[in-house]
Amino acid sequence: MREPAGSRVMEVERTMQRERWPLEPSGDEMRAMVDASMDRIVAYVEALPSAPAHRLDGAEDLARALREPLPEQGAALPELLDLIFDRAAATGFNTPGPGYLAYIPGGGVFHAALARLIADVVNRYVGIWLAAPGLVQLETNVLRWFADIVGYPEAALGILTSGGSLANFSAIVTARHERLPPDFLRGTLYVSDQTHHSVRKAALLAGFPEERVRMVGSDGAFRMRLDVLAERVREDRQAGLEPFLVVASGGTTNTGAVDDLAAVADFAHDEGLWLHVDAAYGGFFALTERGRVALRGIDRADSITLDPHKGLFLPYGTGSLLVRDGAALSRAHAVGAAYLPSMQEAPEFVDFCQLSPELSRPFRGLGVWLPFRLLGVQAFRDALDEKLDLARRAAEALHAMDGIEVVADPQLSVVAFRVAAEGMDHDARNAASGRLLDAVNRRGRVFLTATTVDGSFLVRICVLSFRTHADRIDACLDDIRAGLAETLSQAD
Ligand SMILES: Cc1ncc(COP(=O)(O)O)c(C=O)c1O
Repeated sequence: MREPAGSRVMEVERTMQRERWPLEPSGDEMRAMVDASMDRIVAYVEALPSAPAHRLDGAEDLARALREPLPEQGAALPELLDLIFDRAAATGFNTPGPGYLAYIPGGGVFHAALARLIADVVNRYVGIWLAAPGLVQLETNVLRWFADIVGYPEAALGILTSGGSLANFSAIVTARHERLPPDFLRGTLYVSDQTHHSVRKAALLAGFPEERVRMVGSDGAFRMRLDVLAERVREDRQAGLEPFLVVASGGTTNTGAVDDLAAVADFAHDEGLWLHVDAAYGGFFALTERGRVALRGIDRADSITLDPHKGLFLPYGTGSLLVRDGAALSRAHAVGAAYLPSMQEAPEFVDFCQLSPELSRPFRGLGVWLPFRLLGVQAFRDALDEKLDLARRAAEALHAMDGIEVVADPQLSVVAFRVAAEGMDHDARNAASGRLLDAVNRRGRVFLTATTVDGSFLVRICVLSFRTHADRIDACLDDIRAGLAETLSQAD
């Protein structure tokens, strides 16, 4: 049958329009691009379990080979997808893979990636309530859910940030604003020797000289020592300084240690200090029964950092800060301008730009909202419980290995250990632990990293990927056994 002449004319017009406005693909073109990308995405995800846990050979050559001039002309999508998936993404740490037990694993649940596609296409302006009241409400719901998870009252408010570092930064700025005069350089803040370095960085960015960040030692379980904290605060007051903030950890990066949050809260209350809990790594374990016990007292903190891109398995790029007295967040961040629309007076509605350093920003809220609504929170609770079980499984097996000393048993989902065979001195233990780490990583099924605590080189296993299950932990333990045998034979 012949096509009517009118529809051919329309088709020609559409083609001409597309050539004129290449930034606006047609519906069919959008579908074709997503389909082509989806083919690669699915293949990538399906290959993750068998891909090496890290691959760094040729990294420099690859980076140099990928240098390119400003592209005047466009290229075809398949060619670009090849470049992204086959070359650019194929080298480095396999962070989304099940064998990534290094540092603090991020996640990458697909549901959040889908949310990001939708959010970026919808592209409404969520920094200001009036510009997107419905979408802002979805993000507000997410922050209220987070507040419920940690047991915060109705007055609490929060923001989604790019990550834990920026959440810690806004927490310090808020504490400084609430507890110190505008001339704040006599203010001192207290961290433990296990606190994440982003807190110190945040303090420096917030204008405090290095020496105002006081480091407090930790105990045998890597928890902040309160007797040392009390002594430090007393000395600083006597010296005319103004202690204003203590930062406790809800899961340290080194060993996963959780400070005694209830005891730090008592101390902070008695001393009139702001208590910030950096729970970027461990905070979402509060969804589980065991996590709630470990994090007891977190609800008494003035502010809390939680990282959905760690504990909720989201792709990198979403952290959060919660503040118990939400008005404090606004007092520290709200700045108006004549060209902005009027901000919301009613406490039930928020203008996120008044609570955070950002004005324009991505709609991060959908990346949490969609996975929570699609899967329900029980799916996340179960996955977190599994991580707690897996870390214990690893610790028990390590305890049973001759020549291994478990230095930090899991308080959440990190276990830290070293080689400590008979007759080895400190230096020999450190050297052997380094060799063990290399031997395990060389096998390529898992990627572990190390840290140094009190001069001791410790190998860590951090279980936080939603893709890590018992089979991978068992493979890791097999590789540790084999690596240990190799290491000890070299020591002889
Ligand atoms: C305890 C803790 N706090 C803060 C951060 C910083 O978070 P981000 O990397 O999201 O900025 C990390 C990162 O691993 C962390 O483990």
